[in-house]
Amino acid sequence: MSIIHGELNGIRKSFLTRIEALYEFSVPFGQVITAELAQKMIEITADLNRELAVYINRRGQITDVAVGDICTVVLPEIDGRRSSNRLSGTRCIHTHPSGDTQLSGVDVASLKQIRFDLMAAIGQINGIIQVSFGIITDIKNDTFNIETIGPLSLEEFIELDLTYLTAQIERQLELNTRTSSIDEPEKALLVGLERQEKWAIKDSLSELSQLAETAGAEVLGTTWQKRDRPDPALFIGRGKVQELSLLRQEKGANLIIVDDELSPAQQRNLEKMLGTKVLDRAALILDIFAQRARSHEGKLQVELAQLRYTLPRLGGQGLVLSRLGGGIGTRGPGESKLEVDRRRIRDRISDIAQQIENIKKQRNLHRKRRQSTRIPTIALVGYTNAGKSTLLNILTASEVLAEDKLFATLDPTTRQITLPYGQEALVTDTVGFIQKLPHHLIAAFRATLEEVIQADLLLHIIDISHPQYKEQSQAVYQVLHELKADTRHLITVYNKVDKLENPEALDQLLHSDNSIAISALSGLGTDKLLRLVQNFLKEQTVEMALLIPYSDNNIIAKLYEVSTVLSTEYREDGIYALISLPPDEINRFSTYAIKVDTTEGVESNE
Ligand code: GTP
Repeated sequence: MSIIHGELNGIRKSFLTRIEALYEFSVPFGQVITAELAQKMIEITADLNRELAVYINRRGQITDVAVGDICTVVLPEIDGRRSSNRLSGTRCIHTHPSGDTQLSGVDVASLKQIRFDLMAAIGQINGIIQVSFGIITDIKNDTFNIETIGPLSLEEFIELDLTYLTAQIERQLELNTRTSSIDEPEKALLVGLERQEKWAIKDSLSELSQLAETAGAEVLGTTWQKRDRPDPALFIGRGKVQELSLLRQEKGANLIIVDDELSPAQQRNLEKMLGTKVLDRAALILDIFAQRARSHEGKLQVELAQLRYTLPRLGGQGLVLSRLGGGIGTRGPGESKLEVDRRRIRDRISDIAQQIENIKKQRNLHRKRRQSTRIPTIALVGYTNAGKSTLLNILTASEVLAEDKLFATLDPTTRQITLPYGQEALVTDTVGFIQKLPHHLIAAFRATLEEVIQADLLLHIIDISHPQYKEQSQAVYQVLHELKADTRHLITVYNKVDKLENPEALDQLLHSDNSIAISALSGLGTDKLLRLVQNFLKEQTVEMALLIPYSDNNIIAKLYEVSTVLSTEYREDGIYALISLPPDEINRFSTYAIKVDTTEGVESNE
């Protein structure tokens, strides 16, 4: 026999049986109550002339039933589940025999004390059932904000989306606690889809887990579902959502991260059903970028990408609460605030886009100036964490941030290096690439990545010790392809060879002339790399020896503009210069060209 709480003295057995039968009801997931249950409670109340309360958990099960003054009822299980930023996970729905649905002081006190998801009073006058309810909308320093709504018709009450409502409230409570304990990591569960893809789901989730940790979350678990196509409304199947919801409650997670891009509707629906914050891979990467961008331009680009990401998602957050404030069905206040937000965001987007455009113009100017001095440019590209910054450091002996975290590098950093035969070159480190790189980001970082497109030579750094190095390098090629970067001028650099257990396996990879194995950390192979780079750049230029009569010295300025001057010597009959330049520039100087006589080091005019 199930327990009926409260004052049962004097209640006939037949009544007790009817009350106990309430335990057999259940409420569909996400619904506040069913019409049948409400009806049954009203019937018993009318016959008994006492308050009757049911306590329903988030799975829709009736956990307790009580008769009489609900405040005297002790519900130990509920009491134990309270935490500072959560509601109890239980709602209390009770009847008022008088028919007046207004919440009493006692009702509100018990709403606060137990932190019910919702406290509702049902009454019937002249055969019409009505409901009023109260919710906690905020708790700050133990002061509760309570919102009471009603009376509503039973039908209106049933339409209430309780899961979404509690999610919004808990998010608000969590925000409050987070500001007081900033270092507390968010507790995340990861979820993905197993599809017919090159990336196995486990690898993809393990990368997502690394991303989540880089963003500062604690990963409590991962789960996935086999499906060819995402569910249009929920991304994963409905049953999987319910399973995830239980897992979330069991583990105490307050963040769900989906290993793909979610549509705004999918994100909203998932938040509703799961009752907590839901992020997708794109939002997670944006968050990491936001934390790590350092230059003014980098920050602007991340903000732009974030705003573009947020705009279509504005509909959900906070809307339900503001709507409730004005009563169910009155969309006014929520909508108009939303419009203001939208307009503000659009203004900010165009403002930032303009600023980025200006920076881009400047960058182009710099680039033109660099090109005019003919210093060759080299761009380091590669999957995040491949070792690009470490390589740049060792090549230039500078201190570019190198961290074992994803996306340590956000802003391109350009350094000058001197190649073995004395030639100078500029090396630029770029943002790490990643599979499923959000489109917003590729677009936002296009300006930065233009460095890549314009470079004379690309060095593709691959972490050969990573189990998924093949897939990672494919992802890089994919992005290069999207950027329309020319991969003819590319050297493949297999990095981290020091971590390999059997480096012999590398031999078959190093079949082409344009690949090399190195350890950027120990410096192994980096000299050879520089020579390779030098040879590569040389192949794209030709060397010429010139003798320019002093009468033509105005040509010298032009020389510096279009070629790399390797050496000069002031001689009796003019300036002797050894230059390297692109083949299509040879004609400009052919009248001054001389042959180098290697035996005597003396030259003659051609
Ligand atoms: P993003 O900024 O994410 O694009 O990363 P990145 O490609 O610039 O990588 P970074 O240079 O920050 O290196 C990532 C991690 O790999 C750091 O912990 C480095 O110390 C380590 N690492 C880099 N090169 C080597 C190497 O040759 N051997 C070993 N064992 N570790 C390396």
